[in-house]
Order: sequence, then C-alpha cells, then structure tokens
Amino acid sequence: MPTYPPEPFRIKVTESIRLIPPAEREKALKEAGYNLFAVKAEDIFIDLLTDSGTGAMSQEQWAAIMRGDESYAGARSFFRLKQAVEDIFGFNYFVPAHQGRAAENILAACLVKPGQYLPSNMHFDTTDANIRARGGHPTNLVIEEAFDPANPHPFKGNMDIAKLNGFIEKVGAAKVPLGMVTVTNNAGGGQPVSMENLKAIADVYHTSGIPLFIDAARYAENCFFIKQREPGYAQKSIKEIAHEMFALADGMTMSAKKDAIVNIGGLLCMNDEKLFENVKNELILREGFPTYGGLAGRDLDAMAVGLYEGLDEAYLAYRLGQTAYLATRINEAGIPTIQPAGGHAVYLDAAAVLPHIPQSEFPGQALCVELYREGAIRGVEIGSVMFAHTDADTGQMVYPKLELLRLAIPRRTYTQSHMDYVADTLARIKKRSASIRGYKFTYAPELLRHFTARFEPL
Ligand code: F0G
Repeated sequence: MPTYPPEPFRIKVTESIRLIPPAEREKALKEAGYNLFAVKAEDIFIDLLTDSGTGAMSQEQWAAIMRGDESYAGARSFFRLKQAVEDIFGFNYFVPAHQGRAAENILAACLVKPGQYLPSNMHFDTTDANIRARGGHPTNLVIEEAFDPANPHPFKGNMDIAKLNGFIEKVGAAKVPLGMVTVTNNAGGGQPVSMENLKAIADVYHTSGIPLFIDAARYAENCFFIKQREPGYAQKSIKEIAHEMFALADGMTMSAKKDAIVNIGGLLCMNDEKLFENVKNELILREGFPTYGGLAGRDLDAMAVGLYEGLDEAYLAYRLGQTAYLATRINEAGIPTIQPAGGHAVYLDAAAVLPHIPQSEFPGQALCVELYREGAIRGVEIGSVMFAHTDADTGQMVYPKLELLRLAIPRRTYTQSHMDYVADTLARIKKRSASIRGYKFTYAPELLRHFTARFEPL
C-alpha cells in the first residue's frame, strides 16, 4: 500500500457533501448536456475540477480576515501583504490583482505589441489568451519528454534550451518583449522545472536583453520538487530555494488561488521602475487603486498569511504525497497517468483507457462523464474538446498529442478516504471500459469551447 504523511492539521469546520443516487446523476448529466462545467456543485460528491481557489483556509487566515483594513488607499492590509511579498519573492515593486489572469492582462497591456513573440515552457490558457488578445504570439518550448506520458523524467516542465536559443535567433530578440516560464507546468501535467534549467533559461533571455517573468502560480510545489529531486538542494529551506529562483527573474505573475491558499487573489511583481509606473496606471484603469488591486483589504490579509503557509514543508510533504498517493492507487487499478505524478493534479491517459474511442469522439470527455456517472466525481477533460481545432490553411482537424482527464486536488480539503473513493470508482469504470461510448457536440462556441459546449452520447 502506498502511504503519505498524515495531514499536518486537524479539522475544525466542516462542509457537508452529499452523494446523490445514480438516477439523479443521470438526470443532472442530461440537463448539463454531458458537460461537467454545467453540473451544479450541489450535485457533486468530490470536486476535482480545479485546485484554484478551492482550498481550505486556516484559522490564522480567517483571523487575518477579521483584521482586514478596508481603507481605499494605503490600507494596513496592503503593508502586511507587501512585507510578505518582499520577504518571499524579493522583487523591487509589486501590485495585487484580483487573480492570475488579471495580472497577466496588465502585464500584456504594458509590454506586448502586435506581432511580438513570447516563449515559455508552456503558457497556461489564460496567459496564452492574454498574449493573443494583444496581437502577440505565445510559443511553447517545453522538452520533448513532456509529451511522453510514461517517461519518468524528474523535471518534465523544463524548457528545451536549444529550441529556445534557436527560436530567439529565428524571430530576433527585438521581437521578444519578455520571456516566461511556468512553475510548475500546469498545461504539461503539473511538472516541475529544475533550478539548473531555470538558470539556463534566465541566461539565454538575459544574454539577448530579454526580461524573464515567472508564472509562479505553483512555485512552492515546484520548490519542494527541487528540494526532493535536484542534487544540492536537500538541505535548503523552501524559502531559500524560492529566493534563488526569483533572483533569476525580472518579475512574476501569480494566481494566489493556488500556492497562497486563498479563494481569490493574484500578484504582479517586477524590478523595473518604469514598468511599475505603467503597471500602476493600467491597474487603476482596470482593477483598482495600486494598494488593493481589485481585492478587499481582508483578501490581502488572507494572502499575506497564506503565502507563508504554502511554504511550510510539513504541508508540502503531505500535499505532494497525497497527489502521488492518488496517482499510485489509480495506476494499481490499471489506469495509466502522466509519470511522475504532478504537484497539484493527476492526469489520466484517457486514450489508453478507452482505445476504441477515436479522438474525434472525445475519449477524455467520455471518461470525465463516466467518473461522474459512477461516483459523482468531477474532473476536467484536457484533450480534443479543449484543444482540437481546424487548421486555417489546410482546413484539416488538428488533434492534441494527449487525451487527458485531469483530477486536480484542492489544498487541505479532502482526506485519504476521499482519494480511495476516487481510485475505487475508477477501478470499477476500468472493468467495464470496453462498453463506454464516445460523444459528439450538439453545441460548441468558437473559442474556449470546453466551458459551454453541449454533447450527446454516440
Ligand atoms: N497560470 C497558471 C499556471 C494557472 O494554472 C492559472 C489558473 C493561471 C495562471 C490563471 O490564474 O485562474 O487566478 O486567473 N489555473 C486554474 C486551473 C484555473 O484550473 O488550472 P487565475
């Protein structure tokens, strides 16, 4: 039996969840057009749709919320957050934002011009969309190992340095206003980036005069992987590793809904004073005054406390242990997942579970529906529903390399028996997998179609 460290907390407040009977689940599926985004949270037993904003806050965070200072400008809450942000990340300047994509929008508004290129290991979809919205070209240059689910490479989020060099040479450094790297790489399986690779990335960008911005949504999980897997880091604290990581960069965007364990919030940090001036003006236009950035004072206080809790090693050992535990139990049921397990989520290889369903009939979506039907569990398809598109030049359908079902684990929310329930449910599905059918669209919007599409079973 796989094991992981016991939760380094005990439970003081509970929220009831209810397993509705199979007939009601069938009705809920039909009404939702077989899209789990349209199922009511009330009808879900275990919700693994996302780890974003879904974690449990601590008593210290709730206490901090009571100290929230709701002054429009210069609130005490802002200065408490400022102290934490400076202490952990060490950039010269920062602004709060209401979530990660708001920070991305402000950054793109200030730095990205039409026709420019922004390389990363892999951009998350909101980052990708924010760059495109300004006429830029987001480019993913992750190592090839990232596309082989069985490859156990310890840092599958790494960027391919040769590809990065070649790319900058091809488009010209003048056309690259900033370079990015996402830690951990969510779009590629929650996989970490090594410090060695981060140093090489920073070196390539800086040699060409390109500033490096880190998408730091899950930086603490990435730092813990570095401590566990990279030679020379076992004796360093997570905060020391974070310092080393951010000292390589010129700024960062962060969705605080992940490793800062809050329900809402984000950060945009930078070293450049001129950029900070522009960011503040843009922020006032779109988010709010620079000392609150679209958040309430109490949200800033919850974030200031959560940032430190996200760095706690006992918590991180339990957190990453829980994810690895779920992956192992799912593998024991004969279902392959991206190896090694990611930090925040387990990514199931739906194409391997349902080899008789072609990509055009959405194997990831079929597995997602079946998980709800069998156990009222919600995951999210990351495959053809999300990414397949018609090529503008050839008119042919282009399918993604992988058909995945992501099970993201909210922080400090579910226990081992919840994880066992998920694995046992999947084991039952695996036994009857040959009889599972595919789906077809009855409605699909042009962009970001996974959110609102409707389906029919084939
Ligand atoms: N960057 C990464 C790596 C993310 O995973 C996310 C969000 C964002 C940026 C955007 O942050 O949601 O606060 O605006 N990821 C969530 C997910 C939605 O489910 O993976 P946001």
